[in-house]
Amino acid sequence: MILVLVGPPGAGKGTQAKLLCARFGIPQISTGDMLREAKRSGTLEKRYLDIMDSGGLLPDEAVIGLIARRTVEPDCSNGFLLDGFPRTVPQADALDELLANQDGRRIDAVIQLDVARPLLEERLIHRRTDKRSGQIHHLVYNPPPPGAELEHRADDRPEAVAKRLDAYEAMTAALLPFYEEKKLLHRVDGVGKPEEVTHRVLSAIGRPGSGGE
Ligand code: AP5
Repeated sequence: MILVLVGPPGAGKGTQAKLLCARFGIPQISTGDMLREAKRSGTLEKRYLDIMDSGGLLPDEAVIGLIARRTVEPDCSNGFLLDGFPRTVPQADALDELLANQDGRRIDAVIQLDVARPLLEERLIHRRTDKRSGQIHHLVYNPPPPGAELEHRADDRPEAVAKRLDAYEAMTAALLPFYEEKKLLHRVDGVGKPEEVTHRVLSAIGRPGSGGE
């Protein structure tokens, strides 16, 4: 199964990706996580690092190469879930082409998580990630356990959050119709407990009760 999660920053893509991947036994491929890992290990070019921290989008070619290499790894043979890619129509075209070159693979479903902007801002500004486990927390809704080693993302500062939300709105103007036309797009309300949102996603893609429910 090949799934794509789209949605504005803070919609819960990373949170849902972990729940859905556990259900389907497929890996999560997050371009944001891959780029942050490159940042931590010092391999991300300075010009890309500056773009990311300020809330801008990297050039298409910088992320398409990452996906092309990652999706041919052995753990992707039964499918994968893309979180944060594609974000532009050129990225979506490149994805179709690279899947076609992998024995004619295709996307099964594109899931868009809908959340209103004021709630997105609130979620991002209070997000903290546990450095050791990678677990995503919210200081109010899902507080971290005592002793967690917390990271506050550079792009979760209010000015970068506003830029990311604006960039998403501009980008989806073209990306969502692209998938709507292909009859792959499923819009899901992303407000509610994470498990409730997962339930909605599974129903939307015609897999209610998947993964041992
Ligand atoms: P990326 O890491 O993909 O960030 P994003 O799309 O901005 O999304 P986020 O990770 O901020 O939010 P999310 O939807 O995953 O929400 P989460 O589950 O954490 O990209 C970062 C940067 O990398 C980009 O800005 C760009 O520079 C670059 N980049 C990446 N991909 C690229 C590409 N394809 N092309 C070009 N550049 C690219 O949840 C957020 C918060 O809400 C958390 O605190 C969580 O606990 C809470 N929460 C989640 N669900 C719920 C719920 N149901 N109820 C209450 N709280 C909830």
